[in-house]
Amino acid sequence: MFPAERPRRLRRTSALRRLVAETSLSPVDFVAPLFVAEGRDAPVAINSLPGHFQHTVSSLHEEVRRLHDVGVGGIILFGVPSSKDELGSGAWDPSGIAQVALKSLRDEFGDDLVIMADLCLDEYTIHGHCGVVRSDGTVDNDATLELYARTAVAQASAGAQVVAPSGMMDGQVGAVRSALDDAGFQETVIMAYAAKYASGLYGPFREAVGVEIAGGGDRRSYQQDSRNRREALREARADVAEGADIVMVKPAMTYLDIVSDLRRELDVPLCAYHVSGEYAMIKAAAANGWIDGTAVAIEQLTAVRRAGADFVLTYFAREIAEELGR
Ligand code: PBG
Repeated sequence: MFPAERPRRLRRTSALRRLVAETSLSPVDFVAPLFVAEGRDAPVAINSLPGHFQHTVSSLHEEVRRLHDVGVGGIILFGVPSSKDELGSGAWDPSGIAQVALKSLRDEFGDDLVIMADLCLDEYTIHGHCGVVRSDGTVDNDATLELYARTAVAQASAGAQVVAPSGMMDGQVGAVRSALDDAGFQETVIMAYAAKYASGLYGPFREAVGVEIAGGGDRRSYQQDSRNRREALREARADVAEGADIVMVKPAMTYLDIVSDLRRELDVPLCAYHVSGEYAMIKAAAANGWIDGTAVAIEQLTAVRRAGADFVLTYFAREIAEELGR
């Protein structure tokens, strides 16, 4: 008796495997998160994100050139201000670090790659929350929307082609869309952090941007609860209804069910953020010689695509783009 089903037949050679592969992974599917710090004269390495830096505007340009050269699809910029305040005014200050860097990048790169701005306040606030904090310590949703609206307009004016509201306030996409439209930025794209979970995987990012949440607090009153699956669809549908052009799931690996759900239920482009802790885990295990970091990175990024994401925000963007080009 011969087996009736012989799936191994198609796995025999690498050419056959490539021909029948259901999922592809290429540099254009990557968006690289980058950090730019105010008032520095040299880039500073971020310990928990090996290979990443708080850039100066000039080292940022060099990095974006390298990313562009290897065909990476885009970058998303985070600003690290030299001083913070209660409301996070650096986020919308036209001479704030993110705006200065966005303008400078846009001058050099034009429309050659997609330049995105993360839109949030936590890097700019003393208390480290993503919004306006009331005297009782809670985060005021609607007062925050007004500040997101200002920030969106500042980022679009500076040259961001995509703004990415990441604070998980209700109504944030609608508020940003109408502010952009009123200011004449009808063509600025909104990529919504639609399903963003309160995760333990953001630790290295918080080192990267120097954010500590006041009083040992957390973001559980605005970011999603990891026990919930249906709720992600509710969040994403609301964002699309408010005008989101692209929706995101974050983190990636622990939420592939969510990626798959949103792919099935929505028509808009979908992405996932392979976050700082996901990168750091691979780097740390690889540094110990416990796993092959490159192989695991490719496996994970492929899994995100297989689950249904069109592209991936990843700290591996340059490294794996270089690897895929070999
Ligand atoms: C909030 C923001 C965070 C990340 C991206 N935008 C941190 C947070 O929600 O606490 C995390 C990204 C990462 O871990 O790579 N501005």
